[in-house]
Amino acid sequence: MTDQDRKKWDTRYKNDLGDFAPSSILTQYWQLASCGSALDIACGNGRNSFFLAEKGFTVEAVDISTVATGHLNDKHPGIHVICQDLDTWKISPNRYDLIVNVHFLDRRLFPMIERALKPDGVLIFESFISQNAHPFGLRNNELLHAFQTLRIIYYEEKPNDHEEFNQMASLVAVKQ
Ligand SMILES: C[S@@+](CC[C@H](N)C(=O)[O-])C[C@H]1O[C@@H](n2cnc3c(N)ncnc32)[C@H](O)[C@@H]1O
Repeated sequence: MTDQDRKKWDTRYKNDLGDFAPSSILTQYWQLASCGSALDIACGNGRNSFFLAEKGFTVEAVDISTVATGHLNDKHPGIHVICQDLDTWKISPNRYDLIVNVHFLDRRLFPMIERALKPDGVLIFESFISQNAHPFGLRNNELLHAFQTLRIIYYEEKPNDHEEFNQMASLVAVKQ
């Protein structure tokens, strides 16, 4: 599955690296975090890593795609690129002031994300909802419940025009 994932995303990124504008949820809420260390989970073309590095964060940008991470390598001194399968990656505890997870879902990472935040660390998480229990789709309210030990600052489920997933869940939360 992992090799398949890498091939699928490499092919996609070879054709088109995608939009480089940072996520609006990040541009709205990044300032809640102390400017220190950040983790960008499944960073893709690095649009959110770039944004944070420009703001002064030291960013660890992790993704499985050799094409996407290859493009990102050496592009900014504040970005440390890690080409890695998140299915097997372990996130170090108490390490990050900000964790960003946008348009990617791996439920195995949920408890590690929570532990990886420093006290007052901020989580910005946005991903797709599936009404049909698709493995890559969140259920309604799932994200809200998954991070209940954090202080929820913002949570929303809104319509989305993706062909498979017609809703998006967005969450901003702080470790107490
Ligand atoms: C929809 S893109 C989102 C990219 C980025 N977060 C953004 O918002 O632009 C999903 C990303 O997940 C990465 N990905 C998929 N499976 C992965 C895995 N097992 N480990 C690490 N990255 C993975 C893909 O390479 C792709 O870059």
